[in-house]
Amino acid sequence: MKNIVWHEHKITGKDKENQLKQTPCVLWFTGLSGSGKSTIAVELEKRLYEKGKFTVLLDGDNIRHGLCSDLGFSVEDRQENLRRVREAAKLFYDNAVITMVSFISPFAEDRQLARKLVGKDFIEIFINCNIKTCEKRDPKGLYKKARNGEIKGFTGIDQAYEEPESPEIKINSDQTTPEAAVEIIISYLVERKYI
Ligand SMILES: Nc1ncnc2c1ncn2[C@@H]1O[C@H](COP(=O)(O)OP(=O)(O)OP(=O)(O)O)[C@@H](O)[C@H]1O
Ligand SMILES: [Mg+2]
Repeated sequence: MKNIVWHEHKITGKDKENQLKQTPCVLWFTGLSGSGKSTIAVELEKRLYEKGKFTVLLDGDNIRHGLCSDLGFSVEDRQENLRRVREAAKLFYDNAVITMVSFISPFAEDRQLARKLVGKDFIEIFINCNIKTCEKRDPKGLYKKARNGEIKGFTGIDQAYEEPESPEIKINSDQTTPEAAVEIIISYLVERKYI
């Protein structure tokens, strides 16, 4: 970039990994609204905290209160939303943080861009749930509004959700409790020596 020069830091990500005694990764949750991304991510964060791990959870609704409060739900705004989020996730990851991202992230291309940016420690977690079940749960009453036409561009109703083809972890949240889902993720992280 013109007239912008990278300034080297004295403390590296590796130094911080040693300080925190942990191996960072990005746990990228994707799935329909109501599939259980936030519910599972919040439980996972609690488990990791109890294990002495330092984490950051970037959650869709919460990030839209601040960093992305200027964005809506058009295809373009969703893409910009995820561009900011993947850059934020990369910053935390580079600083040795176990980073969780729980956004619907409906488009394969955006998830692919996040995977490319983060590299080998990108772990895609597909929270797979039948849309009928999501609609029945409707924890925020959003499906009802989408069906009434009060919300436009709602994922799974009048906007696409592109299912991940080869996620590192797939959880069928209509058949698995949040506690069991957390166990699946913890086992994955232990097996691969992240924790
Ligand atoms: N097995 C399960 N796993 C996760 N959530 C479940 C499960 N069974 C029931 N639920 C309920 O389903 C709802 C999932 O809502 P949650 O807000 O976590 O979804 P979300 O994927 O984060 O949606 P959004 O994209 O709108 O933020 C919660 O009310 C949760 O209690
Ligand atoms: Mg959520």
